[in-house]
Parts: sequence; C-alpha cells; structure tokens
Amino acid sequence: MAGAGRDAVDEQAQVGDPAAAEDVVALLTRQHGQIHTLFDEVRTTEGEARADAFRRLVHLPAVHETAEEEVVHPSARTAFDGGADVVEERLAEEKAAKEKLSALEDTDTSDPRFMPALLSLRDAVLAHARSEERHEFALLRRTTSPARLALMAKAVRAAEATAPTHPHPGVESATANLILGPMAAVADRARDAIRRSMDGGE
Ligand SMILES: [Fe+2]
Ligand SMILES: [Fe+2]
Repeated sequence: MAGAGRDAVDEQAQVGDPAAAEDVVALLTRQHGQIHTLFDEVRTTEGEARADAFRRLVHLPAVHETAEEEVVHPSARTAFDGGADVVEERLAEEKAAKEKLSALEDTDTSDPRFMPALLSLRDAVLAHARSEERHEFALLRRTTSPARLALMAKAVRAAEATAPTHPHPGVESATANLILGPMAAVADRARDAIRRSMDGGE
C-alpha cells in the first residue's frame, strides 16, 4: 500500500538527525504526498470523519505554501536560468488553488456542492505539486549546496511544527481549534516561525 510505504519513509527520516537526513526538496515532496493522502481521506469518508479530515487538509497546504513562498521560491528565482519565470508560474497556480480552497473552507462538508468543488481543488493542487517537483525542485536541488538545502529544510520544519496535522489524542476538540484556527491565521504563524528560523533562531 502506498500509504504504508510513505509511513516507512517518514519513520526513516525521523531516525538520527533529521536535518542531515532530509533536504528541503525531500521534505516538501513528502508534504505533497501527505496532501494527496488527505484528499483521498476526505473523498472516501463521510460525516464527522470527513469534516475532521477536511480540517487537517485545509491546514497542511496553508503551512506548505507559506513555506514555499518564504523559503523555496525566493531561492529558485536566482538559482537557475529561467528561475524567475518558473516561480511566477508556480505563484499563479498557488493563488488559483488558494482561492478554490478558501471558497471551500466556508462550505459544509455534507453540502452537495462540497465534493465537486473538492475534486476541482484536488486536480489543481496535485497538478501544481507535480509542476513544482518537475520544473522547480529538481533544478533547485541541482544548483544549491546540500548545506543550504538542509538549512531551508530546518525553516520549513519550524513552520510545520506550528500546525500539527495529527493532534495528540485527547486534544482534538478545543485545543485543536486553538492550535489550528482559520487558514490565514495558520499561514501567519508559519511565516513567523520561518522568519525566526532564517534569522538564526531555533
Ligand atoms: Fe506550492
Ligand atoms: Fe508544494
């Protein structure tokens, strides 16, 4: 099963020093896989389970795209020939996906309009992720030092830590809402954490 394989990779990445084991491209590609899995979870569940999966789905891209905007795209602009154009294309895709996502954020998961809108969002997000991997991440990795890629990964992990997608058992209700909040608030917190990390903080 693809999900089980991905979990095994995740566990390996946790062993030893994750900063040494995983560069920013590996980390963001892993998040693309998590987003894909969450779409499947929302699609195949119903009722409260779907609402819960959708809450997690909303917050991961908020952190992920913020991390790309703060950490990856600025580097990619100058890292390789044509980088600026590649980044402009990715930003346009991100903007379109964000608009679809925020429209969906206000739709109840049991509303008949929810699933068609979700599938449209899914297509946009997954196509965007494939474009990043092919046209941006691969070139960034080839033209950027491993030390710099590891430093960028550290900043993305700082963002990831601000919005856990799997809250600890027993804290799902009030605390989960407090931790997560609306998409814009999640993105703001992620941005603060990234900037602290890039400034040399922990
Ligand atoms: Fe992106
Ligand atoms: Fe991405």
